Amino acid sequence: MSWKAIGIFDSGVGGLTVLKEIVKTLPQEDTIYFGDTARVPYGTKSPETVIRYSHQITEFLVSRDIKLLVVACNTASAVALDSLKEAFPIPIVGVIEPGSSRAVSVTKTGKVAVIGTEGTVKSSAYTKAIKRLSPDVQVVTRACPLFVPLAEEGWVDNDVTRLTAEIYLKGLKEGGVDTLVLGCTHYPLLKEVIAGVMGNEVLLVDSAEETARTVAGILGEHDLLRPVAEKGNHHYFVTDVPAGFIRVGNRFLGGELGDVYQVDLDQSLIKGEGADEGE
Ligand code: DGL
Repeated sequence: MSWKAIGIFDSGVGGLTVLKEIVKTLPQEDTIYFGDTARVPYGTKSPETVIRYSHQITEFLVSRDIKLLVVACNTASAVALDSLKEAFPIPIVGVIEPGSSRAVSVTKTGKVAVIGTEGTVKSSAYTKAIKRLSPDVQVVTRACPLFVPLAEEGWVDNDVTRLTAEIYLKGLKEGGVDTLVLGCTHYPLLKEVIAGVMGNEVLLVDSAEETARTVAGILGEHDLLRPVAEKGNHHYFVTDVPAGFIRVGNRFLGGELGDVYQVDLDQSLIKGEGADEGE
């Protein structure tokens, strides 16, 4: 029996935090990861542009016969999920619903904060999803754009990052928030600094972990899970030259990436590059 892969896409390298959780939860599954490294960031782009990019990438992944698509990018999940679901007849999972549902289930004060890119915050997608689940929960949102380059630079625990976090997150705790949703692919890397600023009483919700649980649930329901005795293979496609993706990606995944292939979405595959070729 041949088994199809799970497709995962992001604007770049950040979605590897979601891939990592999926592999941890479902080590038997094959995955195909797509990072749109030539066009990152999505967080500052208009919804129309992000929707267009998301459709192109989904077409590419669907042509490789995936069984389920994970939109790992919060910004793309926030603005493109509905139109992707309308256009493609496969199960599609975004990161907003899983993170929102976890936040609703853990908050005790009924006050939840969500941090993300400007695109995600402007879309109000998290606020709408949380209110749909529990209309009485109060939601405050804050865009933290500098967290993305800091995470990519590997500045996950230094004074600049701590000061940036203090400035961004100031006021959230005083407002009585007891739950903070990390609504961006990159933020799980800054978890320790963010937790340090927010204090022990505030619970951090990692959308990546919740999304992996949701994926496992959907595959189980559709009887699409591979037997647990199997070991998954992982393939990576990017739209810019692979070197930068490999360097930062190894840090994000905490290990060696497999082969990474460069793709021109208008022309298909250009070339492959092994993870050990580095910069
Ligand atoms: N992947 C994006 C997100 O989760 C962050 C990086 C970007 O702006 O493209 O929203």
